[in-house]
Amino acid sequence: MLSDAIAEIQKLKKERNAVILAHNYTLAEVQDIADYTGDSLELARRAVQVEADVIVFCGVYFMAETAKILNPSKTVLIPEMSAGCPMADMITGEQLRALKASHPGAVAVCYVNSTAEVKAECDICVTSGNAEKVMATIGRDKEILFVPDRHLGSHIAEKEGREYVLWQGHCPIHNALTAKAIEAMREKYPNAPILVHPECPKAVRDIADECLSTGGMCAYALKSDAKTILVGTEIGILHRLRKENPEKTFIPISTDIVCADMKKITLENLLVSLKEMKYKVEVPLEVATKARCAIDAMLAVC
Ligand code: 13P
Ligand code: SF4
Repeated sequence: MLSDAIAEIQKLKKERNAVILAHNYTLAEVQDIADYTGDSLELARRAVQVEADVIVFCGVYFMAETAKILNPSKTVLIPEMSAGCPMADMITGEQLRALKASHPGAVAVCYVNSTAEVKAECDICVTSGNAEKVMATIGRDKEILFVPDRHLGSHIAEKEGREYVLWQGHCPIHNALTAKAIEAMREKYPNAPILVHPECPKAVRDIADECLSTGGMCAYALKSDAKTILVGTEIGILHRLRKENPEKTFIPISTDIVCADMKKITLENLLVSLKEMKYKVEVPLEVATKARCAIDAMLAVC
């Protein structure tokens, strides 16, 4: 039974001195049992502060890997090893090395949705929550290589009024959101603000009211006077938005925006993870040390 699983997870969590971190896109019941739920930046910041011996990371692999890089002496577990991020896999370390070789002197920047191997090749890392601030610290005279998300990259480049060399990666889930879907919802709810994620295509970003990280959407909802808000990102975020704002109505632009990888984390595999201490996330020391420089450089900015 569900309540038995919840009780057992709580008990094991104490015994193992573990903390559970969950991304905003995970299943509602996973978010509810987590100690902290947040976006990539909030979770990376939490990971730096963790005092527990064990971190159980409920999210996709690159996020758990980031937590491990920030906590090399702690045990970091992911309940389902196959929970990956297709965008993160759209560039390899080898491909990035080749790109760097053809742009000597350029600053290599990676979205946090990337593998440790790619982070290790980069000067600095960004998340959707801090990209604008981080990019502003890079000299205007520098050439910038931005990987892997072409949409986040072009969004920030536009805001900055300069050009980046963009790797042509994308999130298949956000990439499927269309301007037509946004327009249809705008017609139906003309007074409701429309929030979209920077991983969405430009045509979508251009007609939305706000382009925000998932944490940014939560902050916006708390402050907004709007009674109804339209949400253009993975539907898992609706749980947190509704929980934190019970008096407001949140409507997804499309119920098809589902990240199957995020949904692979369940109460069942979370329980097994704590019981059997699996799956341990490991990053080779040399890669972790270099990747940490890129993550630390980001966290030093914000
Ligand atoms: P956030 O950092 O905005 O939560 O985004 C993570 C992500 O994977 C979006 O698809
Ligand atoms: Fe990756 Fe897209 Fe899933 Fe985010 S929503 S984890 S970018 S596949």
